[in-house]
Amino acid sequence: NKVVLAYSGGLDTSVIVRWLQDSYNCEVVTFTADIGQGEEVEPARAKAQALGVKEIYIDDLREEFVRDFVFPMFRANTVYEGEYLLGTSIARPLIAKRLIEIANETGADTISHGATGKGNDQVRFELGAYALKPGIKVIAPWREWHLNSRESLMAYCEQHSIPVDFSTSKKKSPYSMDANLLHISYEGGILEDPWAEAEEDMWRWSVSPEAAPDQATYIELDYERGDIVAIDGQPMSPATVLEYLNKVGGANGIGRDDLVENRYVGMKSRGCYETPGGTIMLKAHRAIESLTLDREVAHLKDELMPRYAKIIYNGYWWSPERQMLQTAIDQSQACVNGRVRLKLYKGNVIVVGRQSDDSLFDEGIATFENDAGAYDQADAEGFIKLNALRMRIAANKGRKLL
Ligand code: ARG
Ligand code: SIN
Repeated sequence: NKVVLAYSGGLDTSVIVRWLQDSYNCEVVTFTADIGQGEEVEPARAKAQALGVKEIYIDDLREEFVRDFVFPMFRANTVYEGEYLLGTSIARPLIAKRLIEIANETGADTISHGATGKGNDQVRFELGAYALKPGIKVIAPWREWHLNSRESLMAYCEQHSIPVDFSTSKKKSPYSMDANLLHISYEGGILEDPWAEAEEDMWRWSVSPEAAPDQATYIELDYERGDIVAIDGQPMSPATVLEYLNKVGGANGIGRDDLVENRYVGMKSRGCYETPGGTIMLKAHRAIESLTLDREVAHLKDELMPRYAKIIYNGYWWSPERQMLQTAIDQSQACVNGRVRLKLYKGNVIVVGRQSDDSLFDEGIATFENDAGAYDQADAEGFIKLNALRMRIAANKGRKLL
């Protein structure tokens, strides 16, 4: 039998390769994806080969990740628990989909991953896998084995003469990290004390707001159907957009976040996140919607958003309820076209202008100057009186509010 493993090329998942081969006597197929984590994926090939892996998949999924996962999520202005932009959560369904595609191609009946039994990621990988291939089997080594420290993993490497030399691979970060084009996350280490401030040198993508330039940076984002299609007039692919915004955002100290979140499995966990491009996109998308969306559509989107965020956080991307909400969200974006002008300054994203051919903003009506009869101010008297009717009736009947 065959197992498709989500393989990073790092120590943990290399141990998993050998452990699967030994404990399950199976053939392991590795799958390594470039989703913009900023590390070379090609070295994973030699490492997998050295472990005796014959079928090795290495894919560049950056465009698909941003086009089919990140952008659709940002159409909803999605934020989990008021803070988290879901950088890790939104990458898992893509990995799950690819694992299943590769299982189908190679005739594997099982998938495996390196997520622990305490986290959200196991749930996201496995819910996705079961939704896409109901008969798939799953092996989650971290829920089975007793190798629970870096030392025991290293010892396992030695005992099983795992040929890849990880001792020379660059100094291990003290944090559990996960990176892709949308964010980089840090958990564990000193962060396990929610009172302890993250050290400045933990952050990899952004300068601190204090160290950011004293001169503001202006950018203009062009939207089509709710997605950014050009920056400063330059057409760009989805992945290029996010890469560009990460750079310019990071350089201006934008997108750092430090929070305590509720994991689906029931515990609270403290994490630090860097999401420079996402932080800019959220603000800018709300700005273009402010001009182009009907009020009730915008408000309804805002009511549905926390639910949609929870669906993604909890791992239900490949679910009928996510699909249903996505259809509504996407439909609402037909008129979300136009341009937003932003000022980036020391950790802040400041909207300074917006324009659209689909604007619902009517200067003739909104003006404080003479509106030439477009809006009759006398109408407002009846509008207010009828809206006050039930309160006047209650007051007349002696209902007390104070
Ligand atoms: N807590 C975040 C989430 O659940 C980030 C998880 C990071 N994952 C990791 N393997 N380090 O989405
Ligand atoms: C893990 O436990 O593998 C990482 C954290 C998470 O999935 O929430």
